[in-house]
Amino acid sequence: MKALVSTASPADASDQDTRGRGPLVQTSLTEVPSPVGKDLPPHHLCIKVEYSSLNYKDALGVTGTGAIFKKLPMVGGIDLAGQILATPASGTDAGFTVGQKVVVTGCGLGEVRDGGYAEYAVEDAKNVVPLPPELSPREAMILGTAGFTAALALKRMEVNGQRPDRGPIVVTGASGGVGQFAVELFARRGYEVLAVSGKNQSDAVVRRLIGLGARRVLAPEDLEQSSRPLEKARFGGIVDNVGGKLLANLIPQVDLWGNVCCIGLAESSELHTTVMPLILRGVSLLGVSSNNTPWAWRTEIWQELATRLKPGDLEGYVHSEVGLEAVVSTGRALLGRQIAGRVIVRIS
Ligand SMILES: NC(=O)c1ccc[n+]([C@@H]2O[C@H](COP(=O)([O-])OP(=O)(O)OC[C@H]3O[C@@H](n4cnc5c(N)ncnc54)[C@H](OP(=O)(O)O)[C@@H]3O)[C@@H](O)[C@H]2O)c1
Repeated sequence: MKALVSTASPADASDQDTRGRGPLVQTSLTEVPSPVGKDLPPHHLCIKVEYSSLNYKDALGVTGTGAIFKKLPMVGGIDLAGQILATPASGTDAGFTVGQKVVVTGCGLGEVRDGGYAEYAVEDAKNVVPLPPELSPREAMILGTAGFTAALALKRMEVNGQRPDRGPIVVTGASGGVGQFAVELFARRGYEVLAVSGKNQSDAVVRRLIGLGARRVLAPEDLEQSSRPLEKARFGGIVDNVGGKLLANLIPQVDLWGNVCCIGLAESSELHTTVMPLILRGVSLLGVSSNNTPWAWRTEIWQELATRLKPGDLEGYVHSEVGLEAVVSTGRALLGRQIAGRVIVRIS
C-alpha cells in the first residue's frame, strides 16, 4: 500500500532542526506492506482510510521541524476517518462491524504509532469512535483534531463555569484550524468573540472570522501591552492557540472567575506570568489534551459535533484538499503561516 513515511535523515552536521530538538526527518511517499488479509492483534481493527488531515502537529512532524515522532520510521497523520475493513477474530468490546464508518483523532496516532497518511491503518478499538451518521468521513476530517479540540475547550470552560454574561472570549491564532472552529462554536453559544489574528491585514481573513461570528478581529499587537500582574478586566475568558507573550499579556486582563484555556504553542511553549489573576480574580488556567481525552468524552464530543455543534458550512473551513504527495509542501506553508483554515488529505 502507499504511505507517507518519515525516516531519519542521514546523520550529519545539518541533522539538527532549527530549534535543536532532535534529528530532521525525510518524508516521502513509499510502498509499504499492507495489513490487509493479515491477522489482527486482539482488540485491533483494520481501517481503510478515506481521509486524513494536516494539523499544526502533523506539519511539525512531516517537515522535521519538531520532534513529534516518538520513533522512526513513522507514518504521520494524527487524524483519520474511513471504514472498517476487518475486525479481530475475537471481536471487540465495542462491537465494531465490517463496513462501519469510524474516526480516530490523536491517542498517539501518527506520533507513537503509524497514523492516517496511509491507505490502511490498524488501530486499537479503544481509540476508535463510531462516526455519527450525520458526518461523512470527509466532513469528520474537515473537523479533525482542530474541531474536536475547539469543542473540548468549550466543554472544559463551561464545566468550569464560563458563561456568555461573564464577558467576551478572546480567541488567539484565530485564522487557524482550532481558532476558526473556536470562533464559530463560542459565537453560536452566545459568547461575544474577539478574534486575534496575525493575518488581520487580510480582508479575506477578517471577513471569514466576522462571518463565523467574531465581533471584532484584532491584531496581536493591539493586545500585547500588559506589563503589570493585573490590568483592567476586559475579557471573560481566553481560548489560546499560541502561548508565549501574547498569552502572558492577556491573562492579567481576564475578569472574575474567567477561564484561560491553553491549547497551543504556535508562538511559544513558554508562559511567563504571575499568580495574581488566579488568586485575586479566581481566574482558572485550564489545559486541553485532545490526545488523551477519555473515550466517553470523545464519543460525546463527536456526537455533538455531528449534531448540535455541527458548523453550518463545513466546506467553508477547507483551505485545501491535497493528496499524500503534497502533504510536506503544504505543511511547510502551514508553519509559514500562509494557510487559514483546514487542510484535508484525500487518501482513497
Ligand atoms: N492541546 C491540544 O490538544 C491541541 C490540539 C490541537 C492543536 N493544538 C495546538 O494548537 C495550535 C493550533 O493548532 P492548529 O492545528 O489550529 O494550527 P494552525 O491551523 O496552523 O493554526 C495556528 C494559528 O496560530 C497562529 N500562528 C502561527 N504561527 C504563529 C506564531 N509564530 N506566532 C503567533 N501565532 C502564530 C496563526 O494564526 P493567525 O495568523 O490568525 O494569528 C495560525 O493560523 C498549535 O500549536 C497546535 O499544536 C493543541
